[in-house]
Amino acid sequence: MPIIKTPRTREEFKAYYALRYKVLREPWGHPKGTEKDDYEPISEHFMAVDEQTGEVVGVIKLYEKAPNVGNVSHLAVATAHQHKGVGRLLIEAVENRARERKFKTLGSMSRVTATAYFERHGYHIAGIPTPHLGTIHLVWMEKELKD
Ligand SMILES: CC(C)(COP(=O)(O)OP(=O)(O)OC[C@H]1O[C@@H](n2cnc3c(N)ncnc32)[C@H](O)[C@@H]1OP(=O)(O)O)[C@@H](O)C(=O)NCCC(=O)NCCS
Repeated sequence: MPIIKTPRTREEFKAYYALRYKVLREPWGHPKGTEKDDYEPISEHFMAVDEQTGEVVGVIKLYEKAPNVGNVSHLAVATAHQHKGVGRLLIEAVENRARERKFKTLGSMSRVTATAYFERHGYHIAGIPTPHLGTIHLVWMEKELKD
């Protein structure tokens, strides 16, 4: 199982954003740069790294959206590493960090194609689906965090 790391070096951030682009943007032909949003500087970033190869196989980020409310976004697992529990590992990592930060609620603008995945992790739909980048619809999902 990969380990969860926080990217720190320039090379680590390059690999982190490259995977985000490859999984979340490239398949829809979106240009480079669209994998980043305005919240990068205030976000905490997490990546799953294969210890044998050093490959970044999954990414996710967390920031404070409102007092006591955490926002999880840009969850992506490399195609060849999906369905092996990497997504679960990343979600657990941000949830642990959110609890450390005393967030009461954690939410995500989930792709409508991924709502069932988040429901498996205890999130429920709490918004109305809205179009994103002209292709996919996103919907706000959230869960209450227990200590
Ligand atoms: C969605 C995603 C993050 C899941 O990560 P993962 O590491 O493959 O998932 P896990 O190994 O933790 O969990 C696998 C389980 O979730 C289920 N699952 C995976 N993707 C799903 C989806 N989109 N909807 C519903 N269930 C899903 C699998 O069927 C599997 O179930 P099983 O264990 O009963 O076979 C990953 O498939 C991915 O990056 N997809 C493309 C990008 C994306 O949709 N990101 C989410 C943006 S909100």
